[in-house]
Amino acid sequence: MQLLISNIKQLVTVDSGGMPNKSGRAMRDIGVLENASVLIENGNISWIGNASDFTNTLEPDADVLDGSSYVALPGFVDSHTHALFGGSRENEFSMRAEGRSYQEIASQGGGILSSVNATRTATKKELKKAASRRLDAMMKHGTTTVEIKSGYGLSEDAEIKMLEAITELADEHYATICSTFLGAHAFPPEFKDRHSEYLDLLCDRLLPYISKRKLAQFCDVFCEVGYFSVDESRRILEKARTHGLALKLHSDEFNSIGGTSLAAELQATSVDHLEHISDDSIERLKHGKTVAVVLPGVSFFLRNPYAPARKLIDAGIPVAIASDFNPGSCMSFSMPMMMTIACTQMSMTPEEAITAATLNGAAALGLSDQVGSIEVGKRADIILYQIPNYRYLPYHFGTNLVSKVIKNGTILEF
Ligand code: NIG
Ligand code: FE
Repeated sequence: MQLLISNIKQLVTVDSGGMPNKSGRAMRDIGVLENASVLIENGNISWIGNASDFTNTLEPDADVLDGSSYVALPGFVDSHTHALFGGSRENEFSMRAEGRSYQEIASQGGGILSSVNATRTATKKELKKAASRRLDAMMKHGTTTVEIKSGYGLSEDAEIKMLEAITELADEHYATICSTFLGAHAFPPEFKDRHSEYLDLLCDRLLPYISKRKLAQFCDVFCEVGYFSVDESRRILEKARTHGLALKLHSDEFNSIGGTSLAAELQATSVDHLEHISDDSIERLKHGKTVAVVLPGVSFFLRNPYAPARKLIDAGIPVAIASDFNPGSCMSFSMPMMMTIACTQMSMTPEEAITAATLNGAAALGLSDQVGSIEVGKRADIILYQIPNYRYLPYHFGTNLVSKVIKNGTILEF
């Protein structure tokens, strides 16, 4: 099956030049072509170039879409979400508006543990139904690849229920979905005073089972004061690695306790948050391959400091932007909204924000050979906008500007 998008007004390819990610000044090179055509065959991109250079003969049943009124971008890759959860926490939103902090609310039984209660009570079917609706909405906003974490179960049964739900959604939903095991999101109430026993459960029972059933590609830990220490994080991540899982880490969100150095040392695929990253950790990230994932929506929503994205980029570290969509610290999955916040609050340029939300997001999932840019051989995940040019996207914020979403070469009908 062929689909030709012809005469695209402005095509933003984010061409990787054969590299797994972009860093430093290269984050600004987003490979813009004017009046371009893209040929898609069997869901993959097979030709890109100047419209006038396209001389191939199309198959008789080929579809042709006139691109002359569109700006085209790669589908967004949201590499950090907690999109599967029960309940919601607008009560905490009100409490924060009255001056209470995220940590204060969490220490009084709200926060992650409040979503744990709601997720434990929900059936797998209910969780999947709610998450599937959210995924539909994410795709309408241009996100075509999504990572989803467990971490609101925090018991053997409930974590497996979450991971089964995510894995089934990956088969059933048209989004590309990656599954991450985050059993170390918080200590559950039953293990409040038995931390090492909870670690035994994660390391000796859950990780071998998850790996055997291929329920997750990644293992993540919330490394933070009051959650998991650096030593505890190390034990879990090293064990996960022996079971063939790739590694991620929530690090430096509220305090700098050494998680980011651990992520660099273990060559984690990504290290996420980084609002309080130290200069020493930046130095360590400089010498590795770990992608730094910043989450502008969390700082915006919790009124917290922003991660020093400018410093990270200038240090030559590949930076990705993700939503961290979750009911507590960021109830938004709009990648363009995250890009706008990155530009206005973190001094990223629109070009850097686009690279961070596409190719580098894919790199944060180890998927940049398949998605994250519009290149020959990659999946045809393309967003079409009726806007004057790509800069207009982060500029006109707070509204969904998407005209069409193409996923694996299929134009989605909303
Ligand atoms: O990435 N920081 C830890 N986890 C989430 C918040 C989860 C929640 O509040 O439910 C985050 O911000
Ligand atoms: Fe998170």
